[in-house]
Amino acid sequence: MNRAVTPAEAVSQIHDHARIYVHGDCAACLPLEAALAERARGLEGLRVYQVHKDGPEVLADPALAGRLRIQSLFCGAGVRQAVAEGRADYIPINLSDIPAAIRAGLIPLDVAIVQLSWPDAAGYCSLGISVDSAWQAVQSAPVVIAELNRQMPRVNGPARVHLDDLAAFTVTDRPLIERHSRAATPEIQALGRHVAALVPDGATLQLGIGAIPDAILAALHGKQDLGLHTEMFSDRVVDLVEAGVITNRRKSVDVGKTVVAFVAGTRRTYDFVADNPAVEFRPTDYTNDLAVIRAQHLMTSINAALQVDLTGQVCSDSLGERIYSGVGGQLDFVRGAALAQGGKSILALTSRAREVGRIVPILSPGAGVVTPRSHVQYVVTEHGVADLRAQPLAARAERLIAIAHPDDRAALRAAAAGRRLFGF
Ligand code: COA
Repeated sequence: MNRAVTPAEAVSQIHDHARIYVHGDCAACLPLEAALAERARGLEGLRVYQVHKDGPEVLADPALAGRLRIQSLFCGAGVRQAVAEGRADYIPINLSDIPAAIRAGLIPLDVAIVQLSWPDAAGYCSLGISVDSAWQAVQSAPVVIAELNRQMPRVNGPARVHLDDLAAFTVTDRPLIERHSRAATPEIQALGRHVAALVPDGATLQLGIGAIPDAILAALHGKQDLGLHTEMFSDRVVDLVEAGVITNRRKSVDVGKTVVAFVAGTRRTYDFVADNPAVEFRPTDYTNDLAVIRAQHLMTSINAALQVDLTGQVCSDSLGERIYSGVGGQLDFVRGAALAQGGKSILALTSRAREVGRIVPILSPGAGVVTPRSHVQYVVTEHGVADLRAQPLAARAERLIAIAHPDDRAALRAAAAGRRLFGF
């Protein structure tokens, strides 16, 4: 690669007031970000757009305040404190809408920094494990700076970038960032079994990662001919494919293929997707497109939540006023699955976190409603399932209290009666 330059040289063409997209999730370009953080010390007015990022967040360094401001489209752990302190911005947005917002200039980009696979013989690199909105960023930004990582897998799908379209690139041979999920507690395992009972054979699934989705996936062994149409997946999905549970045979769209926008797991997942014709990576304006989701027969979406009130309003992106994550694809899939033939959407959470009840009379002040009560369908905890479809407020409260932590139920009943939600 005789055109390769150092990370510092690659970012030297970034100037004051540049609007920069950085590749997210486990595809974060760590060497280029470190070089950008260094360069930003002498610049001003930089804006860095990012969707959930894993790994160290050098761009959120308080020393860069006033010079570089992160615009987070989904907050990862590394950016939460900066958002809380007002040094970074949070943009609530559906994943489905991000590529169009880039195209429309609502998210204006001068530079895209992305991590790519090694080029093929014709000079095309793959966007690897994270296509989501990165592909649109590459197509819209006039300057594309890349890390060509020999360990980034080449994946199946339309997202390709030619070497000639790169303003500069640096070459690495480093392991990708890995995401490991926490071990499931007995509560989460029970929750996983309740959710699995709602999943029919032949369903096409969307689900995220983390202890709850992993427990649900573990409880799906024994199901037949499941499909996957999702924005993301990780290692436990590989188990189900290898066990012959996920076959994608009964999908109505993209038959025979797992469709995904990004993966975040261990090397096991990255090896699984490498050159795999049965896994197609697509941008989030396809994976999260309502029209595509609703076209899947038996589409079943499974997402997590942070707090649910007695009327069924679902907070998933904040702990009160403190921004925790983002809207992501939750609402895209909640709505798309509800509209699909035989489809359903499931929101899962343990009844308590840190000894605090998560089914509450009223959401905490500042809590962000990601799924409105008009869209919510099934809410599941370790204590069971609340089917809120087409239910009046009284029945919602009753059903949600039945799956709340047993020690919280009396207070919830009193609160519901006080609000005249029902007449105990
Ligand atoms: N009060 C106080 N603390 C709470 C709380 C509450 N009501 N609910 C959660 N917490 C704490 C937890 O204890 C945990 O902290 P800890 O790790 O220190 O114990 C933290 O907040 C996160 O909660 P947890 O339940 O572990 O979250 P998670 O990692 O399973 O993620 C969401 C859940 C909702 C944040 C995540 O799924 C999300 O961002 N969803 C929105 C977008 C989406 O659904 N996208 C589609 C799939 S990617």
